[in-house]
Order: sequence, then C-alpha cells, then structure tokens
Amino acid sequence: MTETALPLTPDYDAWPIDADLDAVSFTPRLVTVRWSDGRVSRYHGVWLRENAADETTVNSATRERILDLSTLPAWPAIAGAEIDAAGALCVAFAPEDRRLRFHPGWLRAHDYDNAADPETPLVPVTTWRGGPEEGPDTLDATGLLDTAPDGEVEEAILAPALESVLGKGLVRLRGLPTEPGSLEAIARRIGPVRPTNFGQLFDVKAKPDPDSNAYTAIALPPHVDLPTREYHPGLQMLHCLENGVAGGQAVMLDGFAVAEALRDRHPEAWATLTRVRWCYANTARTTDYVWLAPMIRLDARGELLEVRIADFLRGPLQTAFEDVEPAYEALMTLQRLLRDPAFAIRFTYRPGDLVIFDNRRLLHARDAFEGASGHRWLQGCYMERDEIRSRYRMIRRARRRRRLTAGT
Ligand SMILES: [Fe+2]
Repeated sequence: MTETALPLTPDYDAWPIDADLDAVSFTPRLVTVRWSDGRVSRYHGVWLRENAADETTVNSATRERILDLSTLPAWPAIAGAEIDAAGALCVAFAPEDRRLRFHPGWLRAHDYDNAADPETPLVPVTTWRGGPEEGPDTLDATGLLDTAPDGEVEEAILAPALESVLGKGLVRLRGLPTEPGSLEAIARRIGPVRPTNFGQLFDVKAKPDPDSNAYTAIALPPHVDLPTREYHPGLQMLHCLENGVAGGQAVMLDGFAVAEALRDRHPEAWATLTRVRWCYANTARTTDYVWLAPMIRLDARGELLEVRIADFLRGPLQTAFEDVEPAYEALMTLQRLLRDPAFAIRFTYRPGDLVIFDNRRLLHARDAFEGASGHRWLQGCYMERDEIRSRYRMIRRARRRRRLTAGT
C-alpha cells in the first residue's frame, strides 16, 4: 500500500515541515535519520513506539495515550525503517509485527538528540536589576477586549506580554478599561482566575475594617502574596481603576536577581535560606493558613523555582534549635539586600494600567499614600503559572497552524 497523506500526530498541534527526511538507517534499538539540511537525529525504538499516533497507542477521540508499554510481548525492536511516499518515517516494530508512521514535522520538533537542553524553558529566564531609569516592559493594550479571542490582534498583544512575564516575571499593559470588574474579562483572555479567601477579584484600597495591610494606606515592604499556601499563586494581576493620591508608588524587585546576588555575595546565607523552612501564617479572624517552606526554593535541576519573602506573613520560626540564629542571620542579610535601591523599579499606576507579574518570583511593595488626597483603587486577581504557559503554547500553535495553512 502506498501512503500519500502524512500521518496524524499524537497531539492536536500543527507541525510545519521545516526540513524533509532524506535518509534513514536503523538498528534493533535505534532509528537514525538525516534531514535535508544535514542534521542527523537518533530516536530510540522504545520512544518511537510509545509516541506513535495509531489507534493502539492513542485514543483517537482524545489523543491521550492508551498504550501500556509493559503489555507489549517484548521490548519494541525495530525490524525495518524507511521514508514512505508521503515523506513520513515508517517503522516496522517486532515482535508486534506492526508498521507505524511518524509525521516528519512532529519528529523534528521533538528531536531530543539535538536539543542543547531537553527541558528548555518556553522563554529564557533573564534576571534584571532596577534603578531610577528602569521600568517594566510596557505594551499598549488599547482595544484588547474588543478583539476576537484567539484572533491575530489579541495575539499580537498577548504574545509579547506573556513573553515578558515568562522571561522577566513582569509586564505592564496600558490603555485598558477602568470599569470595576473588567479585570475578570481581561484575565479570562489568559486563563481561569484562582480564587482565594479574598475572593475572585480583590480590591486594593484603603478600607475601614482592613483584613490585610494591603487594604490600608501604609507602606508595604517587598513581598510575595499568599506564601501561607502550599503553593502560592504563580501570577498576580493588579489593575488600576483610579489613582489620584499623593504617594503610593509601586515598587517591584526581581526576587531571582536578589537571590542570585545572595548566592554570589553571601553563600552561607544562601545555603541557609534554601534549606531552613520558615513558617508562613496569616493572622486573621476567619482563616488560618499555615505553611512551612524555605525562603528560596530550587527545582530538581538546581534552577530558581520560587521565593517566599513576606515579613508580615511569617509566623513564629519552628525549626531545629541550632538553626535558629543562623536562620535569622541569613534573613537579615537578605533584608539588607532587599533595601538596595539597585534592585528596585518604581512607577506610578495610571488608570487603565494592568501589571501582570510572577508572584513566586517578583516582590512587590508600595510607598505609603495619603488616603485623604484622592482615591487609589486597584483590583487584583491571581492565576497560576500554568495558565500563562498554556496560553503561550496555544498562541504558538495557532501561529504554526496559520503557517501551515498559508503554505498549502
Ligand atoms: Fe501584595
């Protein structure tokens, strides 16, 4: 049988073909292909078998995997490999005696043999310093809500915004509506909001009976929100509806840059703060959130994952007796670094501004303001890092699909 159409991929994505398969060779365990641009890629037989797109491997209705590799009669051995008439890789697997086809665009996009780092982040993470001349990446988002969801205009605004959040942890959008509640519709363009005990949206303004320092006019030191949770929200959005007060400037710091400076200048303090678990606890009449975690956390690869810095949300330290003094010494070293103006950017909210930032990376603070001199009203909400990543991938997918359609 001659195959003339390219095979399905095991996902819903669109994979343009940037290079054709030119040559193929195989051993029982490996398939090696050469692409038209000279690149050579090796794929393990077991990896290919698990990532096939046929009906024995994925459910065609959901494209979720149904294959359990351990139920195969033996380790999937390669009995043959060729490039078929459609340009797909066709592999014969023994002992199943099954012939499976692989889409060249998908194969190339998942070429783990040539990836410098198989876990490359979506957008490179770049730490940044502040200073009086510095400010957040700023984009004009006028008309964002008037554009069609998933349309090209929306993507032209969202794609660079999400890149800034993924790479630098922060972006400022300007020109958005100032109607109370409009943040919900804006947020939905990215993903679902994470509700908390402060609600779906929360109002940041001086209130008569505040349940947080945020709801007063006093200065707030650099902090992340909700470090009292097992995982604190990955994103925070603050949307300015009104700002006529004297003072109340926003201050933001890259917590990863501060952590790196601590690692470079004070390695002992770094070692302590990445190890000792502090107690984070809210003090409230109606809720009682408590979580223990190090102030700086690394992921399995040793990269910075999150910081939990919020002096006013720390409970009493409960740790090994001999760790108490070193922990406070390290904390004070960090606190001194946080006061270094070289890390901070400062800006004044204008009505219609929306700041989106990584709440597990950036620290936000604000100067005191005079409640009597006018109104300062921000609305905020939380979301997870997952939503930004998913949305960004969907934007890339739509772009690939457009490229594919344009090329046919
Ligand atoms: Fe806050």
